[in-house]
Amino acid sequence: MLSSQELRVLFITSEVFPLCKTGGLGDVSAALPAALRSLQNDVRLLLPGYPKVLAGVKYKSKVADFNTLPQFPPATLFSARLSLSKSENIPVFVIDCPGLYQREGGPYMDTLGRDWPDNALRFGLLSKIGAILSSDASPLAWRPHIAHCNDWQSGLTPAYLHYHSGKKAATLMTIHNLAFQGIFPPGSVVQLGLPAESFDINGIEYYANMSFLKAGLYYADHITTVSPNYAEEIQTEPLGFGLQGLLATRRRHLTGIINGIDTREWDPATDPHLVQNYTSKKLSDKAANKSALQQQMGLAVDADIPLFGVVSRLNHQKGTDLLIQIASQLVKIPAQLVVLGSDHAELEHQLSTLTQAYPDAIAVRIGFNEALSHLVEAGADCFLMPSRFEPCGLNQMYSQHYGTPPIVHATGGLLDTVVDYTPAKLADGSASGFLFYPMTADNLLSTIKRASLAYHNKKVWQRLQKNGMAKDFSWHASAAAYREIYLSLLP
Ligand code: ADP
Ligand code: GLC
Repeated sequence: MLSSQELRVLFITSEVFPLCKTGGLGDVSAALPAALRSLQNDVRLLLPGYPKVLAGVKYKSKVADFNTLPQFPPATLFSARLSLSKSENIPVFVIDCPGLYQREGGPYMDTLGRDWPDNALRFGLLSKIGAILSSDASPLAWRPHIAHCNDWQSGLTPAYLHYHSGKKAATLMTIHNLAFQGIFPPGSVVQLGLPAESFDINGIEYYANMSFLKAGLYYADHITTVSPNYAEEIQTEPLGFGLQGLLATRRRHLTGIINGIDTREWDPATDPHLVQNYTSKKLSDKAANKSALQQQMGLAVDADIPLFGVVSRLNHQKGTDLLIQIASQLVKIPAQLVVLGSDHAELEHQLSTLTQAYPDAIAVRIGFNEALSHLVEAGADCFLMPSRFEPCGLNQMYSQHYGTPPIVHATGGLLDTVVDYTPAKLADGSASGFLFYPMTADNLLSTIKRASLAYHNKKVWQRLQKNGMAKDFSWHASAAAYREIYLSLLP
C-alpha cells in the first residue's frame, strides 16, 4: 500500500485562479490540488504558458524541451511555483510555446469573443505533454501515478496514453461541464498525431467530428463529475449532450464528487474585498456591505428593500434570459437587482437596457471583476442562480457561506447543495435557500416573491442565513474522495 507522500498526481488544466480564470474550473484547479496536498498527496499542475501564467508564477526553471514533436511548434517546459496565499505555493509545470499561447485575449477566445482558430493544436499540445509526462517517455525524473484531466482541454491525454505501449499513469477524467466538448473536424485526429483508427464510434468520433471530451470519457480509466446529481443527469437526455449513451455504459466508472469552496479566499470574516467583515455571530455587520454595494452600483440606498445579486456568465446555461423576463416584475415587489457578468452580447445589451428603465432598482456591470464579485456575495440579501443546468456551481455555496441565501433551479449541483425553505427544514437546521422547478419564468418570479416575504420576517431570515453559514462547504471530504479514487486506480 502506498503511503500518502508517494501518491503523485499530475493535475492537467487550462485555467487556474488567480492567474487565469473564466469560471469555476479556475477556482477548482487551485483549491482542489491545495486540499489534496494538505492530505500529503504530491499533486503538481500542468498549465499552458499564457502570458499571465508565465509572468505570474515564481521560481521558474527550465526542465525540458519539446522541439521535436512533429505535430506541434517547439515548446519549453518550466517547473515553477504558483502562489495561492502568502504562506502557500504549489508546484506547477508550465508549457511555454509562444506560437500557441503568447497572445492577447482569453484562454479560449480572442478579444472579440471568437474561438482561437488553432484551439485543437493549443489544447492538443497540453494533452500531449500531459501524456508524455505521465509515461516512461517523460524527460523528467518525477513521474505521476495518476494523470488527472479536467474538461475537454486535456481530454486527449487518455487517448495518447492509450496508444503508448510503455509504462504509463492511470487516468482520471473530470467533467466540469459537458456542454463544452472540444469538437474539431475529423482531419484533426491525424494532425494531432493520433492513429486514424481512433476515429471511430468506439473512440474519438462524435457525430462525424472528433471530440476531445469524448476521447477522455472513452479512454480514461475513471470519470468523475462535480456533483452526484449531475453524474446521474448526464446519463440521460437532454443533459448528456449526445454522450449519455457512453456515460451510461461507463456508469460503474463514473463518480460524482461535489466541489468544495476555498474558505480562505471566500470567508466573510477576513475577505479583504468587503467594506465590513462579519460572522454569523454578528450578522448586523453585513449591512454595511449592502449599503456600499447599493452606493457603488448607483442604486437607491435602502436597508429594508430586498437586494438580489447575480454573479455569472450571462448565457443560456445560466438562465439569464429568464432573469431578464422577470426583472421588471421583481422591481415592483419592491426589490432591487445587481448583476455582474459577461458573455452573450445580446443578453448583456438587454440587461443594460433594463438599468435605463429602472436606474434606482437595477444595476448591471458587464465584465469580470473579482473584487466586486465578493462584494455582491456579501452585500446582496439573496443570490439568484436560475441555471438551466449546473454541473456543480460555486456561487450558491459562496452565498450560503456569506449569509446570503440563494434561489436556485433544482438541477445538478444546485440541488445537492441548497435545501429549500420550509418551516420544518428551517427548524432542523438544513434549509438555507430556495429551490424552484420546473424552469419557468413564473416559477422564478414566484420564488423571488416567496424569498422576499421570508426576508421581511427577521427571525426566519436570520435562521436561513445562519443555517447556510453553518454548513461545511470546505474541500476536506471531497479531496479525500478524490484520493480514494486515485488509490483505486493504482495497479
Ligand atoms: P461556471 O464555472 O459555470 O461559470 P461556477 O459557479 O462554478 O460557474 O463558477 C463561476 C466562478 O466565476 C465563480 O467563482 C464566480 O464568482 C466567478 N465569476 C463568474 N462571472 C464573474 C464575473 N463577471 N466577475 C467575477 N467573477 C465571476
Ligand atoms: C463548470 C460548471 C460549474 C462548476 C465548475 C467547476 O464551469 O459550469 O457548475 O462549478 O465547472 O467544477
